[in-house]
Amino acid sequence: MHGLPRSSPRSDIEIYRMWEIYKAVNARVKAGGEVVNLLVGEPTLPPPRKATEAAQAALASGRALGYTEALGISALREGIARLYRRRHGLDIAPARIAVTIGTSSGFMLAFLAAFSAGDTVAVVEPSYPAYRGALQSLDLIPYRVGTDAGTRYRVTPAMIDALPPHVKGVVVASPANPTGTMLDGAELKAIYDACRRRGLWLIVDELYHGVTFDRPADTVLAAGPDVIVVNGFSKYWGMTGWRIGWLVLPERLVRPIEALSGSLQISAPTLSQIAALAALDADDEMQARVGSYRRNRDRLLSALPGFGIRRFAPPDGAFYLYADVGDFTDDSVAFCRRMLDETGVVVAPGVDFDTAQGQHFIRLSFCMDEAVVEEAVKRLGPWFQRLNRAAEPAI
Ligand SMILES: Cc1ncc(COP(=O)(O)O)c(C=O)c1O
Repeated sequence: MHGLPRSSPRSDIEIYRMWEIYKAVNARVKAGGEVVNLLVGEPTLPPPRKATEAAQAALASGRALGYTEALGISALREGIARLYRRRHGLDIAPARIAVTIGTSSGFMLAFLAAFSAGDTVAVVEPSYPAYRGALQSLDLIPYRVGTDAGTRYRVTPAMIDALPPHVKGVVVASPANPTGTMLDGAELKAIYDACRRRGLWLIVDELYHGVTFDRPADTVLAAGPDVIVVNGFSKYWGMTGWRIGWLVLPERLVRPIEALSGSLQISAPTLSQIAALAALDADDEMQARVGSYRRNRDRLLSALPGFGIRRFAPPDGAFYLYADVGDFTDDSVAFCRRMLDETGVVVAPGVDFDTAQGQHFIRLSFCMDEAVVEEAVKRLGPWFQRLNRAAEPAI
């Protein structure tokens, strides 16, 4: 008798440990407990008003809102091109822009277009865990490039020069999740040049552009066109569930991406594309939110030393702070569970972001209301004091 076939090895991807913590959060809420949530990286405010108005008008018009062109509606691609002119003074041809279903599908399309099954792709860690999962699901092999506080968890050109010869590409983010640290224009150019020298594909995740605190983010596109940039509307515009991202492509990838997109997604959701186009004009509304994230960052930065957390890189952007809690634990999942149980505050364990060093780290997300961050600080202060006392050697 033939049983049901096994699932494929490429679908054998680790489920984020964060979801374990999430289940504990749900159990706590169900039991009537309070939770102060610094876990998820999802802005809690609604999308920009202009975006919802545009979506409402499109619905009210009675139009079919059918498929769009595979690479997205031209008004949106032109609007995104104008964004590069406004933010960076760069002329990007709309023809090089492909609209995707969130950056998540942008990554899949980019990996499919750039690499062949079995290729090895360098992933800078700590980083967003889905890079590894997406690569593995496409029969690609992630190669860990570890970084530490010495470079503020950022990749250097020397690290790229030192990659083994079988590596075919590099995935970098700026500002990065989970650290919020950023590469400036000169650093991005040096990385771009290092990749060009080695003939590597360079893929840069710029999804957190716009969410920056002390200076605007530079784009790697200023270094030249031979790079794949991934970006989208989920973070700065807070439109996670609308699922709109985009790619900026080198000429030679435009046709392959158009073909892949036609077969894999037909087009990104039409209503969301219309809303995204309107969101491009909502800088005033969004800047006020970034101001609130900045105050949250500053509040956490001022609180951490009092917690006895001394090793962290102040974030330049995004809404995360990655803190070394190695003085207290070598099991970041257990540490997060204990924090939740004893204080009601929930943060993410570092293991999701760094496959080698993550047991010593936690990620605090601060895209939520300022009152939530304040409450977390209030609860964590005495808790860390107890931990510090327990960690002191007995006299
Ligand atoms: C660095 C980074 N890239 C990509 C994503 C995926 O976002 P989306 O698919 O909503 O664009 C996330 C989500 O948290 C992220 O943190």
